[in-house]
Amino acid sequence: MTVGIDAVEIRTGKLRLDLAETFAPAQGEDPGKYTKGLGLYASSFPDVYEDIVTMGANAAHRLMDRKGLEPRDIGRIDVATESAFDNSKPVSTYIAGCLEQVYDGDFHHANKGERKFACISGTQSLDDAYNWIRAGRNRGRAALVIATDTALYARDDSGEATQGAGAVAMLLAEDPDLVELSPEQGYGSADETDFLKPQQQFPSVDGKRSMQVYLARMREAIMDYESVLGPIHPEDYVLIPFHTPFPGMVRRAAALGYRHATRDTEVEEKLAAEIGRQPRREEFDSDEAYREAAGEYTDDLTESDRYQEWYSRCVEPTLSISRQVGNWYTGSVHVARIGGLKVALENGENLAGGRMLVCSYGSGAQAEVHAETIQAGWAEEIAALDIDDQLEDRYDLTFEEYEQVHDVHNHDSDIGVSDVEQFTQPDAEFVFDGWGRMGERKYTYVG
Ligand code: HMG
Repeated sequence: MTVGIDAVEIRTGKLRLDLAETFAPAQGEDPGKYTKGLGLYASSFPDVYEDIVTMGANAAHRLMDRKGLEPRDIGRIDVATESAFDNSKPVSTYIAGCLEQVYDGDFHHANKGERKFACISGTQSLDDAYNWIRAGRNRGRAALVIATDTALYARDDSGEATQGAGAVAMLLAEDPDLVELSPEQGYGSADETDFLKPQQQFPSVDGKRSMQVYLARMREAIMDYESVLGPIHPEDYVLIPFHTPFPGMVRRAAALGYRHATRDTEVEEKLAAEIGRQPRREEFDSDEAYREAAGEYTDDLTESDRYQEWYSRCVEPTLSISRQVGNWYTGSVHVARIGGLKVALENGENLAGGRMLVCSYGSGAQAEVHAETIQAGWAEEIAALDIDDQLEDRYDLTFEEYEQVHDVHNHDSDIGVSDVEQFTQPDAEFVFDGWGRMGERKYTYVG
C-alpha cells in the first residue's frame, strides 16, 4: 500500500515585518546580520483577527475545497502546535468547529488530537496519521494533519529576529498525489533543556546551545537511519528539506550532513586534491584538536565548487519560502518541503520518482529523518498553491505597529484585540470573534 501526503496548503499570517529595513535599524543592528547571517528577510505575523486556529482552519478549508472533500471523507484531524492556548481542549476541535460552519455534515466521527514536542510534533502527527492508515484503521478515509504556530519570543530576546506565524495543512491518504513516505526512519532523541516554555508563552532559550543540540541530534538521527538502510549518499536525493528555524541553521546542518555522508566515499577522494581528506579522530590527541581540524575542513568544504553545486541544487531551494516568513515551529520543515518543490516546478524540473530526505527537529530535543518519494501528481499539486499571492498581499508593518501586534498576541499583555485596529480586511475566511462564557475562543466565517 502506498501512503503519503496527497495534498498540502499553506497559510501565512497576513502581516509582514521587514528585518533589514524595519527591524534592524530599530535594534541598532546591521541588516546583514539578518539577511546574510541568519538568512532571513522578513517574518510573518497574524493580524489581530488571526491566530493558530484561523490559520489552520483557513489552510484546511482551501485544501478540502480544492480536493472536493466533505467531512465524511476525513477520519482524523491531528494538530501539531506549541502555541496552544488551552491545556485540555485541543486546537483540532476548534478547527473542526470552524470547518463545520462551511460544510454540510460534521466531524463527529473523526478522531481529533493535539501533539506536543516542540517543532518536531508536525512530523510526529504525520507519523500518527501514516500509521493509522497503514494499520488499516482508516476505513478508506484520509487524515487531516495541521501544523500551526505563532512563534513569538519575548521582546529583545535573541530569538526575536527568527519569529514567524503560519499553518501548513496536509492530507494523508492512500495512493497520494504528492509524496509517499518511507516506512524507514531514524531518530536522535535526548533530554535537553535548550529551548522550553514551562507554563509560559514565550520560550526560555539558550540560542547558541540550541544550535549545537540541533546538530548533535540530527547527526544521531542520520546514523540511526543508516543503521536501517546502510550509508546514505548526498546524491541519492533531489531535495533535502530540513527543519528551518532560520536558513543559517540549515547551512550548518547541511555541511555537517554532507561531511558525514561523503566520508570514505569517492566524493571525499575527489575533493582530497583540493581540500585534503577529512580529519579522523584517531589522528588527534584531544577532542578539541579534532574539532578544530574538522571545523577547518568544513569551512574548506563549503567553499568548494562541488559542495556549492550540491547545496544550491538540493538544499537552497527549500529555503525559498522560509526566508520570507521566519520560523513556523511545527510547520517549518513542511514549509521547507513545499519551498523546494515550488522552486523545482518554477525551474521546469521533472522530479517524479525522485527522493527527498526530510530532516525534522524539535527542541527538548529530537531529530527524525525519513525519505519521501515524489509522486507523478506533484507538479499539479504545487501549482495549485497561492502562497506567492499571500506573501505579496501581506501588510508591511512599521516598527511601532510591530510592537502593537506583539502586544496583542502576548497573553499577559493588557493590550487586547479591541485596542488595535485590524491592518487588513478579512475576505472569505475564518476570523477570531471574541470569547465565550467559559473562556473559550470563538470563530466566525466571514464570506
Ligand atoms: P544572535 O546571537 O543575536 O546572532 O542570535 P549572532 O550574533 O550569532 O549572529 C547570527 C549570525 O549572523 C552569525 O553567523 C554572525 O556571524 C552573522 P554565524 O557566525 O553563526 O555563521 N552576522 C553577520 N553576517 C553578515 N553581516 C553582518 C553580520 N552580523 C552578524 N553584519 C541565534 C542568533 C540563532 C542564537 C538567535 O536568533 C536565537 O536565539 N534564535 C532562537 C533559537 C533558535 O532558533 N535555535 C535554532 C536551533 S533550535 C531549533 O531549531 C528549535 C526551534 O525551532 C524551537 C522548537 O523546536 O520548538 C527554535
